[in-house]
Amino acid sequence: MKTLTITRPDDWHTHVRNGAVLKTVLPHTARQFARAIIMPNLKPPVTTVAQALAYREEILQAIPAGGDFTPLMTLYLTGSTTATEIKKAAESEHVHAFKLYPAGATTHSDSGVADIKAVYPLLAAMEKQDIPLLIHGEVTDQNCDIFDRERVFIETHLSGIVENFPNLRIVVEHVTTTEAVQFVQAGGNNIAATITPQHLLFNRNAILAGGIRPHYYCLPIIKREQHRLALVAAATSGNPKFFLGTDSAPHITPLKETACGCAGCYSAHAALELYAEVFDRADSLDKLEGFASFYGADFYRLPRNSGTVTLEKTPWTVPAAYGVNELTITPLQANEELNWKMQ
Ligand code: DOR
Ligand code: ZN
Repeated sequence: MKTLTITRPDDWHTHVRNGAVLKTVLPHTARQFARAIIMPNLKPPVTTVAQALAYREEILQAIPAGGDFTPLMTLYLTGSTTATEIKKAAESEHVHAFKLYPAGATTHSDSGVADIKAVYPLLAAMEKQDIPLLIHGEVTDQNCDIFDRERVFIETHLSGIVENFPNLRIVVEHVTTTEAVQFVQAGGNNIAATITPQHLLFNRNAILAGGIRPHYYCLPIIKREQHRLALVAAATSGNPKFFLGTDSAPHITPLKETACGCAGCYSAHAALELYAEVFDRADSLDKLEGFASFYGADFYRLPRNSGTVTLEKTPWTVPAAYGVNELTITPLQANEELNWKMQ
């Protein structure tokens, strides 16, 4: 049997929610990854260090007995964030970044930033404190075609941010387009990107062709095949600017399978297996370890993990759902066969 052993990986972008959903999903992330960057878009959002520390405690409680997992907390940037809070965050050993959601761009983003130029003084404070800014890069203009929103964000906002704050460490989260890949490649070493499994594995036909499949609907929306190919090339290139971030985003099944469903693919149940499939198909399994286990840690200036995980090439079928009763979460590739399995 074919196996692949790599240094323990980290997930540099995930949503684990809170309450009952947290208890259902956290064991998946904690089994696969040593650490994960935890998104702050709870309701209400995590905007202060004190809130992040309380949320961190809740996450620690959800780790299964004997588990070894470290949540890396982030704060939600709003128009009301203060320079004092940025300094506090930079000094906290548990808070690792701020997340910028353009207001209205995605799930629980209504407290996000409505006027990006208005938060420039805060970006200056982050640059000074040397704390990374994680960006959901999509414009929210309702007249902008949903498939163009990332490209237009880069032209309208991201270029300006990078020009004005040349030393700000930025992660362009969940890149989905050729334009985003090129932007990150052309930038300095302070500009990096995460890539999700769904954007590497699927193009927009997965959502729309032959019937509408809500479990492939996430934001930024999955694009055309030409963009997927650019993402696979970036992820498997060995360029340390591109690293693993699942954007695993659980929503209970009835909120996905409805007339106006929520955005988000749940992938924490098989994250590494999904990425292994991508790298295997691209004949680049030797590049998976850098992408999954080294480059993110280096960018965040955290030590690389010790220990290893092993994947086997052995088919298995993803369950139809995780959780029980009103709490079921339908995973990405539910009922489908995957070729790789983590031991
Ligand atoms: O699809 C998404 N779901 N994209 C996001 O940016 C947020 C996430 C969520 O929180 O559900
Ligand atoms: Zn996300």
